[in-house]
Amino acid sequence: MLQRIDDLLAEVQNFQTSEKAEIEQFRIKFSGKKGILNDIFAQFKDVPNEQKKEFGQKINTLKQAVETKLESLKNSGTQNLILEKEDLTRPGFPSELGTRHPINIVKNKIIDIFKSIGFAVADGPEIEDDWHNFTALNLPEYHPARDMQDTFFIETNPDVLLRTHTSSVQIRYMEENQPPMRILSPGRVFRNEAISSRSHCIFHQIEGLYIDENVSFADLKQTIQYFTTELFGKSKIRLRPSYFPFTEPSAEVDVYWGLNSETDYRITKGTGWLEIMGCGMVDPAVLQNVNIDADKYSGYAFGMGIERIVMLLYQMSDIRMFFENDKRMLEQFRSL
Ligand code: PHE
Repeated sequence: MLQRIDDLLAEVQNFQTSEKAEIEQFRIKFSGKKGILNDIFAQFKDVPNEQKKEFGQKINTLKQAVETKLESLKNSGTQNLILEKEDLTRPGFPSELGTRHPINIVKNKIIDIFKSIGFAVADGPEIEDDWHNFTALNLPEYHPARDMQDTFFIETNPDVLLRTHTSSVQIRYMEENQPPMRILSPGRVFRNEAISSRSHCIFHQIEGLYIDENVSFADLKQTIQYFTTELFGKSKIRLRPSYFPFTEPSAEVDVYWGLNSETDYRITKGTGWLEIMGCGMVDPAVLQNVNIDADKYSGYAFGMGIERIVMLLYQMSDIRMFFENDKRMLEQFRSL
């Protein structure tokens, strides 16, 4: 019996072919259901105990030899197949380039516009604490305005949450720096809202902050007008009084879109005006919270949702499109 296994081992090691059919025959002969390996394994129980060890080792060596052989035969086999069938002189397929996501395209446009008038980009964490997202922004605990932004809290620790706006980055920046400062804070934000064609739990914002001596509401209005002219080619804006806890006075910015097409009527609900962002003069209480002298300095802040701007620029009607990553949608932005 032991001799037979040695002979089989030699047979396996010497076997050579590049024919697919012969490889298959070899496989069936050795590892098939009724193949030699199974046959020998079946005889194992009849082997006398004192020989079992040596016998076992030999079968395993044989089994491994069969597997190694099959593997190497298969590999050389496929190489042969490629050589036979493929024309290796053909030029390769050009590798497909990805496209930028429209949110990134528009984010970069917005950043470029503000960069040209001296703003720099600041970054901060998406997982925030209560202080930076709310309290320092003049939203103490139990302040009713906290309900303006439905928040995802971390269940085990109510002090930890997903930031509901990137105003938190402005707090972090003001804590670390002294005026004058001009920053933009782009990034992902999270709100616990029902998903629909117009809202999504995750979306992107870009906020701006400017603090210096003698910054006025007129500066804010000029800056926003410069921005809408650069981005939309529209310079007619209006500021409607509004409320944010961290700015006083606060305003909502509308841009005059016009009523030149049916779409214009539809998206502006027949008014010609579109709301694009919130803004205001930074509340002195916020400056005090971050140890900036509110008697010496003043500033403005603004914030907008990037998805909304993209939808307006490219006439998209459903915010969910941004998160589906459908290549057919993304590829339309290839040239931008
Ligand atoms: N943080 C506000 C929001 O997310 C936007 C805003 C920023 C408003 C700055 C005014 C000033 O809704």
